[in-house]
Amino acid sequence: MSEELEQRLEAAKKEGKEVVAVLGLGFVGTAVLANLSRTLKEGAPAFFVVGVDRNDEVGREKCCKLNEGEPPVYASDPSLRRVISQAHCEHKNIAGTVDPKIMKYADVVVFCINLDLDREKGQTERLSMDIGGYEAAMEMVGSVIKPGTLVTVESTLPVGMCDKVLYPALCRGQAKQGIDTEENPPLLAFCYERVMPGPDYLDSVNNYWRAFAGINKESADRAEEFLSRFVNIAEYPLWRHKNTRAAEMAKLMENSYRAVNIAFIEEWADLAEATGVDLFDVIASIKVRKGTHDNMMLPGLGVGGYCLTKDALLAAFGAEEIIGVDAPLPFSRRAILTNENMPMKAFNWINCHFNGSLSGRSAALLGVTYRPGVADTRSSATEILARALFEGGMAVWAYDPLISKWDEFDEAELIAGKDWNIQPDAVVICLPDPAYRDILAANLSNLRQGSIVVDPWNMVGDKLAERLSDKGVTVKVYGRGDI
Ligand SMILES: NC(=O)c1ccc[n+]([C@@H]2O[C@H](COP(=O)([O-])OP(=O)(O)OC[C@H]3O[C@@H](n4cnc5c(N)ncnc54)[C@H](O)[C@@H]3O)[C@@H](O)[C@H]2O)c1
Repeated sequence: MSEELEQRLEAAKKEGKEVVAVLGLGFVGTAVLANLSRTLKEGAPAFFVVGVDRNDEVGREKCCKLNEGEPPVYASDPSLRRVISQAHCEHKNIAGTVDPKIMKYADVVVFCINLDLDREKGQTERLSMDIGGYEAAMEMVGSVIKPGTLVTVESTLPVGMCDKVLYPALCRGQAKQGIDTEENPPLLAFCYERVMPGPDYLDSVNNYWRAFAGINKESADRAEEFLSRFVNIAEYPLWRHKNTRAAEMAKLMENSYRAVNIAFIEEWADLAEATGVDLFDVIASIKVRKGTHDNMMLPGLGVGGYCLTKDALLAAFGAEEIIGVDAPLPFSRRAILTNENMPMKAFNWINCHFNGSLSGRSAALLGVTYRPGVADTRSSATEILARALFEGGMAVWAYDPLISKWDEFDEAELIAGKDWNIQPDAVVICLPDPAYRDILAANLSNLRQGSIVVDPWNMVGDKLAERLSDKGVTVKVYGRGDI
């Protein structure tokens, strides 16, 4: 363990700061850490925040960045860089380390590590999760922290994980230190995260509604007190769930609700296309019913990101594998499959347009990340489409100003700037960002007669569609059976 960091932590404690260890410097952990670093108590920083990541190449690099006053992950929210730099240079209250033993100094440990779901595409029955890895991390933390340290979990968990897996692991860890956990029960709370990647990334951690539950009353009380110190509870009161299973379910149901709504629109988009109807017009007319229908979704290329593509299945996994009860969840499971298949509509249209002969042709995909303005390429709908086109024999070019390397699909050649020196046979607007429509318009001269533009978001608009059609380019729009 670094002596220098130990001395800094001891000094911080003497100054009255609490030490918070944030485990996992990913998208969530970085926002949590930055927010805690800017939290004040009587005008001075309330916390010294230590980011702890894995002792591997990626983890070490993240910690290095943090120790140089740089964010360990990229975010389009400019306040992230500013807040971390201020914490490093001015407040001197952040550090990064790959040595978990540092957590013996922690008053609070916040778990922000990932818990991935593995399954083969096209089915939702055979699911697997490395809950053993998460459990081991919790046991390790228990073997290091002092009694009285609050452990909170912000990762999204399968139902039953806190009470059936994590609390016993925390107790086992404490027992390794010779602590009697009957007499001195450890403190564990589940405080799920709702951070929203994008321009308000940092603010969404504390200027938003937060919910939590403790494994016992003292854990819940301590978690409430901890959250109250950095969440704007005057405007966003906290929600205290009855137990950790309820809080786990709340997070999963919230994301599943969105996934099901998206899948619902997809089947009506298919119907509109088959029956010659403009679904956008239909939805706009329904959305006037405020309070019941005004949050209806619109068609799109697909659902991406790390959360909506898995969370419904975490509920099923938890119920079946951790608690041991049946969890049919037919709507939620079906939604995951429908959403996963959505990008294939673009593939099928392109394939059909070229009569199944894709080999030797090329496609330009505009937008690679899973959301406009967010530099996260995990589980993006563009990746599903790109793979299908590539496997069909097409060369794939991709443009997204937020990425310089596409980690998940390096077979694609990235288009460097807004001006193309390529002549694609197919163009797909993969994200609902008007900038992509403008790029398409600016590069019209690169499109040849007989090519196809697929617009899953209804972004092209009548004027541009007319210009494309005049050039002999076919335009296909999701949900627009009328064109
Ligand atoms: N990304 C989001 O917008 C979002 C929003 C709400 C909730 N969540 C949930 O939060 C959790 C984290 O998501 P993320 O997007 O930050 O993931 P991420 O993959 O970006 O980050 C996870 C980090 O944890 C580190 N890590 C993993 N195991 C570790 C261990 N044993 N010890 C130390 N470090 C370890 C990894 O190296 C990585 O840096 C997930 O459960 C996710 O579902 C994510």
